Amino acid sequence: MSLSTLTKEEATTLHKKLDAEIKEHDRHYYIENTPIISDAAYDALRRKLEKLESLYPNLKTGSSATQTLGSAPQKGFGKVSHTSPMLSLANAFNEKEISEFLERVNRFLGLPSDNFPEMMAEVKIDGLSSVLRYENGHFFLGATRGDGQTGENVTENIRTLSEIPKQLLPSLEGKYPPLFEVRGEVYMDHSSFQMLNQEREQNAEAPFANPRNAAAGSLRQLDSTITAQRHLRFFAYAFEDLTPQSSFVSPKSQSEVLDLLRKLEFPVNPLSKIIHKKEDLWQYYENLKDHRFKLPYDIDGVVFKINMQDLQNRLGDVARSPRWAIAYKFPSQQAKTYLEDIGIQVGRTGVLTPVAHLTPITIGGVVVSRASLHNEMDIHRKDIRKGDTVLIERAGDVIPQVVQAILSERPSTSEIFLMPDLCPECGSRVIQEEGFAAYRCMGGVFCPAQATEKLKHFVSRNAFDIEGLGRKHIDLFYKKELVKTPADIFTLKERNSQLEFPLETWEGWGSLSVQNLFDAIDKKRIISLERFLYALGIPHVGEATAKLLASHYKTFQNFQEEMMHAEQIQSESYQELTHLDGIGEIMAKALIEFMNDPHTLTLIDALIGKKEYHTPLITVLDFKENALETKTIFFKKTIVFTGTLTHMTRAEAKMIAEKLGAKVMSAVSPKTDFLVEGKDAGSKATVARQLGVHILSEEEWLSFSKKSA
Ligand code: IVH
Repeated sequence: MSLSTLTKEEATTLHKKLDAEIKEHDRHYYIENTPIISDAAYDALRRKLEKLESLYPNLKTGSSATQTLGSAPQKGFGKVSHTSPMLSLANAFNEKEISEFLERVNRFLGLPSDNFPEMMAEVKIDGLSSVLRYENGHFFLGATRGDGQTGENVTENIRTLSEIPKQLLPSLEGKYPPLFEVRGEVYMDHSSFQMLNQEREQNAEAPFANPRNAAAGSLRQLDSTITAQRHLRFFAYAFEDLTPQSSFVSPKSQSEVLDLLRKLEFPVNPLSKIIHKKEDLWQYYENLKDHRFKLPYDIDGVVFKINMQDLQNRLGDVARSPRWAIAYKFPSQQAKTYLEDIGIQVGRTGVLTPVAHLTPITIGGVVVSRASLHNEMDIHRKDIRKGDTVLIERAGDVIPQVVQAILSERPSTSEIFLMPDLCPECGSRVIQEEGFAAYRCMGGVFCPAQATEKLKHFVSRNAFDIEGLGRKHIDLFYKKELVKTPADIFTLKERNSQLEFPLETWEGWGSLSVQNLFDAIDKKRIISLERFLYALGIPHVGEATAKLLASHYKTFQNFQEEMMHAEQIQSESYQELTHLDGIGEIMAKALIEFMNDPHTLTLIDALIGKKEYHTPLITVLDFKENALETKTIFFKKTIVFTGTLTHMTRAEAKMIAEKLGAKVMSAVSPKTDFLVEGKDAGSKATVARQLGVHILSEEEWLSFSKKSA
């Protein structure tokens, strides 16, 4: 059906449908960070809506999806008004559309249609645009794009990006204006992305679909310590002098902007290139289209910008994009292949993850034989079955995705996918835990897959961080029965000397590499409480929860005792645990069960107990307070927020309280030190009054928290 032959009613109906569909996808993409269609499919929808609006202009209103972009700032962050709108780029998908772009530029400037203005070609980083502001060389504000007018204040999170200068070098003084802004792209590189998703799958958390979503999810964390662990990176591509009546001589072209950014030590992508003729645009594009999979980060196209600033100024903007730049997007890399089987991977906590085993196929120069299927729900939603011909996409993403099954090619005998009842690795029962999408193998450490994954987690970077003891070593040592439990790692040296075939005699090992391994293990015998709790691999306990537990219970002994008492639901210990903000009931139950499980007790005893071995194998340090926290009146105090806060969100208040060293609880108890009472406070305030808890109004909390900081 051609759009131009629609009746007015049909066009209106179609417009409404497309508009709603795009807005729904925007919500998935910008707010939930989990898109449900490919970028290419989204672009197609958008183009259709744009075409429809150009044919029927009265359908275009201010609230149409073509006129909006991004999303309004999320709750929990302060707002930042952008000094100038953060625009998006118009997209082109073929050479003809780029030629048309150049014609529009020439027409607008009154130049001959075959004129070629000098261009700057850059890669289009698939991350999220952000802005950084500096005063006298000092970084003081970082924000996301938000809806283009107003972004989210993510200063503390941006501060954790090591590549971003926080204070420009004194030697650079005079080389930048007093007040300026840098815009660029925050992104996650492939190795950090893979590590993060592995961890999430182990914790039965939905993995991020691609590095862009992972970067967005990581930058928009209310707790900046989480952002810090995600190793986000940055490429700068724009510079703006914000100084009133500035005497600074601003760059005259995009190439000068990039030179200045480099000089000021911002990371600038090295692939940009000045282009003098049209053919070189095509060459730049083709070259990167082929080479993009070799880059350690995702790019989804290239960006062509008119190089000279004066021309850019004259060209100005249209709707949501500048007239002087265009993105030339890569086609998404899709291919059809055969789904030979749906295999099952068993993770550290026993979570079963389905994996697509494909007839190998080359997509973008890489042979793909496996693709992630996430979980049973996802498979059912897409109705993907063994024996299907499936569409696989590698839209610059590291992990190929199964987009859809080609239903017309489905064999009549195909059956709906069901999770197995028994673990394929150890034959134990598989159950679906209440409240979770994940299925788990109940084999615990008897399941070889769980045991090795647990060991791999135990030595991983954010846990014991034992260098030189990688995943392959663990698999090998486990198979050879050299390391079966965490304690075995720390007795390896002792036992090795008594072996008939010590490690030194193994293929690929020499005395030096064995010594290095033992040294690396010895170096990690002392560990912080939060790292230790994380290393234990407690179900649902990621780094943030481990830190929360460590800061609350202070010593491992205390934590262990409290978890024992908490087995009684009526106990104070149980109440205390479930009242910790961030610990729900399901998590609490899993935690208590884990900590009282005989296997856990044996494991812990072997590591830090004195019975089995003469001295404990490792030392777990008590939780160390942050120096800043000890100075505040909220230090070590318990605080509860209730009612509606008008100056900040609950999430922000919680973050501030924790920074000041307080524990934020969700319910009032005799142990509560402060209750902050917002508007329309209910029963918590009544209880607090009865218990004689110190009550602060929102204003008092604001002034105290400011004084304390
Ligand atoms: S210039 C006026 N250059 O692509 C818009 N953007 O769809 C100025 N992006 O919002 C953007 N790499 O997040 C520009 N080298 C690059 C880029 C780039 C990635 C992103 C940016 C922008 C989006 C446009």
